[in-house]
Amino acid sequence: MTHNWFPVLPKNRQVLLVLLPVFIVAYAVLVAIYHDKTEAYAVSEAQKAALDVLLSHKAVHRYVVETQRPEIYRLQGEGLLYKEYFSPKVMSFTFIARSVKELINKERESAGLPPVYFKLAADNPRNPINQADEYESALLARMNRGEVKEIREVVQQNGEPTLHVAVPIDRSSAGCLKCHGDPKDAPAELVARYGSERGFHESPNSIRALISIRVPLAPALKEANAIADLLAFVTLLIMATIYGLTYFLYSGSTASNGLPSPVRALSRPRKSTPRICSTRPTS
Ligand code: HEC
Repeated sequence: MTHNWFPVLPKNRQVLLVLLPVFIVAYAVLVAIYHDKTEAYAVSEAQKAALDVLLSHKAVHRYVVETQRPEIYRLQGEGLLYKEYFSPKVMSFTFIARSVKELINKERESAGLPPVYFKLAADNPRNPINQADEYESALLARMNRGEVKEIREVVQQNGEPTLHVAVPIDRSSAGCLKCHGDPKDAPAELVARYGSERGFHESPNSIRALISIRVPLAPALKEANAIADLLAFVTLLIMATIYGLTYFLYSGSTASNGLPSPVRALSRPRKSTPRICSTRPTS
């Protein structure tokens, strides 16, 4: 008698046919979840990098305003430094913060990390390097009108997904107007260096600039996708194994009573023990 393993009987085939789409849908849902979660993780990592840049900027700002500049003013007050002395290298927090960021980016690049864009974007900048682009300028206007507090969004920049973070700097105070109000009040060396056109006549209490940070997402997304692909592959292996085992169990015999064949084999009534040698060969 020829033993026919295939095709399976209708009832078994039904189970396998129902299971297949269930497995495919479950797999597709899991893969979508993996990609969604790992991408969200990549964005949150980029947000942490942006926050890091922001906090280090704030620390530099505080140090310059609270420690370094008063020290220069003290020297000037005591007559140890001439009154008109002004150097952005030691007195401008924006100059210092930008220089520190440039050094950090050099370090990042030599450590194989992508550089992080950082700008104190202003509409009336003293240093043209701080000129706000269209996007930053529109945002600054909205911040000044109180329409928006801060921005965190993923946008396509030059075809690359990029995290944009924008936070306003503190509103200007009377102290700022010494150098950003009337040029006549500003240190002569400042005017000699930057001229009397740019960065002056600012209104008090305005938001002069926003801190604009852009973190490229491509490297983190690449890593996230690699992790999602690995998880998807492992899931595929596990599901294929489970399906394969199910297939093996359900399609193992032509006799059907709705139970997998090993179960059927166990539940089958036992025949009488076969005798080892029932007939003697006739000589
Ligand atoms: C002692 C002078 C001085 C004082 C006081 C001062 N600034 Fe400035 N500020 C400068 C100089 C110089 C620059 C240009 C530095 C550079 O080359 O980036 C500048 C640049 C800036 C910039 C970058 C945009 C631009 O104009 O190039 C912002 C924003 C800014 N200042 C905000 C402020 C605020 C807010 C205050 C008060 C809390 C303040 N500044 C006080 C001298 C000063």
